[in-house]
Amino acid sequence: MNVKTIDSVDLTGKFVIVRGDLDVSVDEHGQIVNDSRIQELIPTLNKLLEKGVAKICLIGHRGRPTGFDQTLTLAPIHEYLKVHFAPDTTFIPHKPIELFPEMFDDYSRAVGKLVLLDNLRFFEEEEKNGARLNEELSFFGEYFVNESFATSHREHSSTVGLPQLLNQKHPGSSLAGIHLLAEITHLEKVIENPARPLTIVISGVKQDKLDFLNALILKADKVLVAGRLPEFMPEDNSDPKVLVAKLIPDKEDITVHSIEMFEETIASSRTVFVGGPIGHFEEEGHMLGTKRVFEAIANSEAIKIAGGGDTTTAILKLHLGNHFDWISTGGGASLEFVAKGTLPGIEVLKEALA
Ligand code: 3PG
Repeated sequence: MNVKTIDSVDLTGKFVIVRGDLDVSVDEHGQIVNDSRIQELIPTLNKLLEKGVAKICLIGHRGRPTGFDQTLTLAPIHEYLKVHFAPDTTFIPHKPIELFPEMFDDYSRAVGKLVLLDNLRFFEEEEKNGARLNEELSFFGEYFVNESFATSHREHSSTVGLPQLLNQKHPGSSLAGIHLLAEITHLEKVIENPARPLTIVISGVKQDKLDFLNALILKADKVLVAGRLPEFMPEDNSDPKVLVAKLIPDKEDITVHSIEMFEETIASSRTVFVGGPIGHFEEEGHMLGTKRVFEAIANSEAIKIAGGGDTTTAILKLHLGNHFDWISTGGGASLEFVAKGTLPGIEVLKEALA
């Protein structure tokens, strides 16, 4: 994929905005439950410091708040970065959009090089890609780095509107982060001349994954449908490429016959992409489908790629992490990328080349 990278520009003395994947779960003690998304951001932050940037403004979101919500602030990520990245990292708490000039003053005066803004979804303009938020944020940097693959399928201010505006103000200013590039490179293996047969497993609970079914049928040799998704499939599915699992009576897992049918297809595949757990694996009694199907993938000779938070949790719980060639941070994002070959947050980076 042709996009500009951090390495392709001189960033000495520049102010750089980094959109990170900061949407992590936090426990009742304010501790981050799984820090992999933040860890994946650190090489990009280090690289920017090596390149001599003046300041990094880190932006992102947690959850789906409607307005300010203390339980979804990015303060725990600030604490984490102080311990695991730089003790002088500064946090700018949320303020109403009218007070952006005050936030900018705090940013300019910050002693350390890394400054974290609070959850951007506290502004309703973020998800609406609002012009005012784009404008306010654009003062915080001359360059933009997308290090948020998991949110790149959203046309939000921090993923699309802001880099678009910065590209207008400073042509060529939107760059791909190190992890974002790795996501693209690995996921392209599923769509660009994949080793065949290519099997795509769509599962989990989010019905909207089925929006991509037709696009996935065109790409794959077999599409396996599991999780809760069989419930939303048309009764008359007769496409020989699509295998729909049968659910056990409580609908929390798939039947043993369906597991065996999936195992057989996976064993003869040369590329497998899995987006979603097979059953409600968090409960011991409903773990069988996820365990056997994920083990079948892990033990196959195929190139194995997985995507999404729950999928990752299941893979780690089953100690299968080392068997996968790539585990994407993005669930919806990785599936949409496989279906469409790009994402809005990636397309905007291509505008920087024009
Ligand atoms: C994710 O966790 O997958 C991303 O942060 C996207 O979150 P969203 O589905 O709330 O946009």
